Amino acid sequence: MTRKIIIDTDPGQDDAVAILLALASPEEIEVLGITAVAGNVPLALTQKNARIVCELAGRRDIRVFAGCEKPLAHALVTAEHVHGKTGLDGIALPEPTMPLQDTHAVEFIIDTLRQEPPGTVTLCPLGPLTNIATAFRTAPEIVGRVQEIVLMGGAYFEVGNITPAAEFNIYVDPEAAGIVFGSGVPLTVMPLDVTHKVLTTRPRIEAIRDLDTEVGHAVAAWTDFFERFDMEKYGHDGAPLHDPCVTAWLVRPGLFSGRHINVEIETASPLTRGMTVADWWGITDRPKNAMFMGDVDAQGFYDLLTGRLARL
Ligand code: BDR
Ligand code: CA
Repeated sequence: MTRKIIIDTDPGQDDAVAILLALASPEEIEVLGITAVAGNVPLALTQKNARIVCELAGRRDIRVFAGCEKPLAHALVTAEHVHGKTGLDGIALPEPTMPLQDTHAVEFIIDTLRQEPPGTVTLCPLGPLTNIATAFRTAPEIVGRVQEIVLMGGAYFEVGNITPAAEFNIYVDPEAAGIVFGSGVPLTVMPLDVTHKVLTTRPRIEAIRDLDTEVGHAVAAWTDFFERFDMEKYGHDGAPLHDPCVTAWLVRPGLFSGRHINVEIETASPLTRGMTVADWWGITDRPKNAMFMGDVDAQGFYDLLTGRLARL
């Protein structure tokens, strides 16, 4: 069955690949819209990058909305050190000509959840959770209408990537993450524990480049760009491809396994701000609020990704 989704994103090369995988998978996924948020780079770039990616996929019909410019309570932290100045460094792509929608992303999220039948829209956040939390705060009655939230964020065993204790998406807006993780909406979480297993090894990226399409060349150029930074940092054979885990799960959930556990967000401590305190071992009796993934069939993931990208 096709799932209706809103992709909430801060592209970002890995966000871009996640979007491409969704657009290449119409049997499983119907993209109702893409909402941009500030994160990897400021909003002016993330909303533009989302449109660049839609045009690369030949999908000028997808509606792209700009959302929140900064986190709920703190200054924006960006990640140009990973993604480059534009957020999509690695290959020069044409400026987008498809329009940005006039409606604010938060308004689009609220309106869509009010209009669609309850329990039929899945939210897929790939960046800081500011847009989603703002929508929940502004219109609390929509919370119960969300089918599920499938997000990339957090970590347990891998702990952190932007600080020793925190993963980037949660760290940038922990207050927003606290609202989302406390919302009661069923959550499926792709933490670093999973994303650090889907590495951009040479054979996997060459298979994508060998598609010899515009999309194949762009994806290979993007991963070539950011893996230099990550390979030096982690000493692995490739870089993690974080955000596509979300859209891969929508297409083939059996690639992933995890545990239904309690996850709380640290917002107070300056040392561990943005940490996802995940009760992986079931130590507390705090309510289970998230399906927290821990393992993935990495080659199965790349076979799926490459096969789907070949369609674009
Ligand atoms: C997350 O942070 C961003 O840099 C990536 O796009 C991904 O969403 C990984 O921590
Ligand atoms: Ca992202």
